[in-house]
Amino acid sequence: MSIKRFYPISRLLLGMVLAISLFSCVKDQNFHSNEEVEMYKLSDLDLVQPVAMDAIETAAAEMSYALSSTIDKAGVKEAIEYCNLSANDLIKTIAEDYGVEIKRTSLKLRNHSNKPSKDEKLILDFYAKQESLGKACKGEMSKVDGIYKYYHPIYVSENCTQCHGIAGESLHKKAAKKLAELYLNDHAQDYHTGDLRGMWVVTFTK
Ligand code: HEC
Repeated sequence: MSIKRFYPISRLLLGMVLAISLFSCVKDQNFHSNEEVEMYKLSDLDLVQPVAMDAIETAAAEMSYALSSTIDKAGVKEAIEYCNLSANDLIKTIAEDYGVEIKRTSLKLRNHSNKPSKDEKLILDFYAKQESLGKACKGEMSKVDGIYKYYHPIYVSENCTQCHGIAGESLHKKAAKKLAELYLNDHAQDYHTGDLRGMWVVTFTK
């Protein structure tokens, strides 16, 4: 999955410190147009987005590594079992490192415990509308009961179709059988490369 990288938080914080010190030095001289001084007025989105994106990139990279190495070593069926048992635990461990909550959700679920909350459903519907209009979805942010939430779309890449594609085609019969054993009500099939699969949600609980 390709995720756009934003500037790292360390650079952002350094920029803010510079901005604040620069701002206090120069404000008497009526100094307005300076890049660093602009950063003094960071919006909430500017603060939340880099942390959320860093956490999402880490989670996506670790998931991708865990799945592809299990597929290479043991096969797709075993990787499905791994995903069934460990995907949400792996995501939880990474979230704890960042001091946030992370989840993946979708309008077409495989594991129904990943179901969207009310605000998440609104964003998923919005993303689905964008997709139907042929528009690319972007990161979105909301504040729910005083808590920031950041949403980021997840698109299907070719390797995802081994487990989310069309049964008998990209999704091999053995893998489809394993999925049917583990998930009674699996709606997360029939995807093509490039389709919108769902989204990441990062909740800033602290
Ligand atoms: C080895 C098989 C496998 C591969 C490859 C795979 N997935 Fe999944 N995916 C699963 C399984 C199994 C689940 C259900 C996990 C669970 O029980 O929590 C799942 C769940 C999800 C979910 C959570 C929502 C839901 O439906 O429960 C998303 C989003 C998702 N996958 C996206 C992707 C994307 C994007 C890719 C490619 C980058 C991908 N998956 C690759 C097997 C796979």
